[in-house]
Amino acid sequence: MNSDLLNGLNEHLKLEFRASHEYLAMAIWLAEHDLPGFSKWMRQQSSDELLHAQRIIDHLVERDQKVVLPGVPAPPTSWSSAEALCEHVLKNEQEVTASINDLYAIAEKTKDRPATVMLQWFVTEQMEEEAAARAVLGRIRLAGNSGVGLLMIDQELSTGRVPGMPIENPGPV
Ligand code: FEO
Repeated sequence: MNSDLLNGLNEHLKLEFRASHEYLAMAIWLAEHDLPGFSKWMRQQSSDELLHAQRIIDHLVERDQKVVLPGVPAPPTSWSSAEALCEHVLKNEQEVTASINDLYAIAEKTKDRPATVMLQWFVTEQMEEEAAARAVLGRIRLAGNSGVGLLMIDQELSTGRVPGMPIENPGPV
């Protein structure tokens, strides 16, 4: 494997582990603030991020490439509001998307077919993850960042479906 691609994939692991850690911290904060639906959504996202890291690790191991696990910084412990928390999620996802796009470009340039196929899954996943974060953020801005509006969105999220996403595309899994 091209060394830039290998180093880039190892570097990318930081973003997935950071997201997992931060989303778990968000799930805790949301539970503390009586938003169990939001908390359930973030707990699931945290688990999904670990699976994303695992996909890359598996790819590297299968190809006999060196995996270097990153240290994970301590996540924040509070947010000023559910809206601020969702803005943070969207920013995270945009950073992950940019990193995946960079890696995809290197894989294409170096004609690394297995990595290109592996990263293709992430390209689609990132489109869905950004869409889900934008959908929830949009609902908060429509319904209000507190009171009954927020409780309504929390109720929707407790069903396991991301509100505002098309039914045939229920969000990342
Ligand atoms: Fe694995 Fe949400 O990016």
